[in-house]
Amino acid sequence: MDRIRIRGGRPLIGTIPISGAKNAALPLMATTLLTDQPLTLTNMPRLVDIATMATLLAQHGVDVHRNDHPNGKAGFGGEMRLTTANITSTTAPYELVRRMRASVLVLGPLLARCGRARVSLPGGCAIGTRPVDLHIGGLRQMGASIDLVGGYIEAEAPKGLSGATIVFPMVSVGATENLLMAATLARGDTELVNAAREPEVVDLARCLQAMGADIEGIGTDRLRIRGRDRLGGARHAIVSDRIEAGTYAMAAAITGGRIELLDTRLELILAVAKILTNAGVEFTETATGVVVSRANGALIGVDVMTEPFPGFPTDLQAQMMAVMCTAQGAAMITETIFENRFMHVPELMRMGANITVHQASALVRGVGRLTGAPVMATDLRASVSLVLAGLVAEGTTELNRVYHLDRGYDRLEEKLAACGASVERIKAEG
Ligand code: EPZ
Repeated sequence: MDRIRIRGGRPLIGTIPISGAKNAALPLMATTLLTDQPLTLTNMPRLVDIATMATLLAQHGVDVHRNDHPNGKAGFGGEMRLTTANITSTTAPYELVRRMRASVLVLGPLLARCGRARVSLPGGCAIGTRPVDLHIGGLRQMGASIDLVGGYIEAEAPKGLSGATIVFPMVSVGATENLLMAATLARGDTELVNAAREPEVVDLARCLQAMGADIEGIGTDRLRIRGRDRLGGARHAIVSDRIEAGTYAMAAAITGGRIELLDTRLELILAVAKILTNAGVEFTETATGVVVSRANGALIGVDVMTEPFPGFPTDLQAQMMAVMCTAQGAAMITETIFENRFMHVPELMRMGANITVHQASALVRGVGRLTGAPVMATDLRASVSLVLAGLVAEGTTELNRVYHLDRGYDRLEEKLAACGASVERIKAEG
């Protein structure tokens, strides 16, 4: 397995192009199942999860064409053309769903277009149990009959789905996306109440609109969808990855550097910018992106609580914890979205961090320095938090299980190295 070796201690200075958002691209790809017309997605990031979704869609009968920028450099998003003339299989097999939970996003579209779907239950994951009861409950309210058989969700709606008012008891990005897609082809009106407002949900709704869907309330927690008989094709540019932008903002913060994040907008990372500003980091919006700098002064400990958008994202909690490890004073970091998202704590402590976890909160007491160590992590964001810690640590950090990073960070080493980081990938032998 590949490893990443980082020699810490250099402030990062330069520009980093931000790629299209993984978590927008995945549901957007699933919308191809709603139409027999071509869908072209631009600003497509190059990630293992995207390839997994393409494999899943191909086995449903989707014709997937990928056209990456010829010079293949960071920042040049590729194009993907997806055409689903016919759906040849309505089964999403365990083998693919277990590799990537977002595979469950094919459930709503398959059911809406074909009247049936058989999708493996994703099971637990490193950050929590992550049930899909809200997806299933919502589809049942829309008239689907659903059984759980042999580890699969077996759903049927032979006469099609019907509109319904669905009130989510908690905010779920995936359930909002699945039901939004399903509702575009349902009979009658659907209302999604307490819907997720994440920019990735907004991006999905905008693309569906371009495909002919009738959606009101985009960007609010109440989405109203008037079902249509059919949707058409569209060409859509994927929103920039706010989690990637936030991660590199933290790279500037932790190393005391200055990075211009290209092709993104401050409004996407406003909650993060507010917190980091209180910690002593500066954010300036430019015509081309956002400049993040901590050229002078120390980092100051600040408290953080994760929340659904527009709050501080859970997908940046691990990175924020790494930043707080070397801040002056203490920081209380509270995770409210997932019940097991502190797996990076013991690894950060192996690098010299002082962290005490009590239930959903971690108390981080800033230490003068971190030291490099061999580390590994169990998920994508935990892995990148260790990269951030490695950038500021004395000596060498070697990160194992790099495949987690490849699922969600488009050319991470290239982007960091362009700002002066000493980061190299060590290829596995054989
Ligand atoms: C999306 O996951 C993201 N993934 C996650 O990013 C992100 O952490 C999460 O939203 C929260 O922002 C994609 O977009 C592909 P949820 P999702 O449904 O949709 C509970 C990353 O690192 N819940 O909003 O699966 C759930 O257990 C990944 O890129 C139910 O109880 O998250 C969690 O506690 C990791 N029942 C909470 O809701 C359900 O049916 C929020 O989950 C659904 C969710």
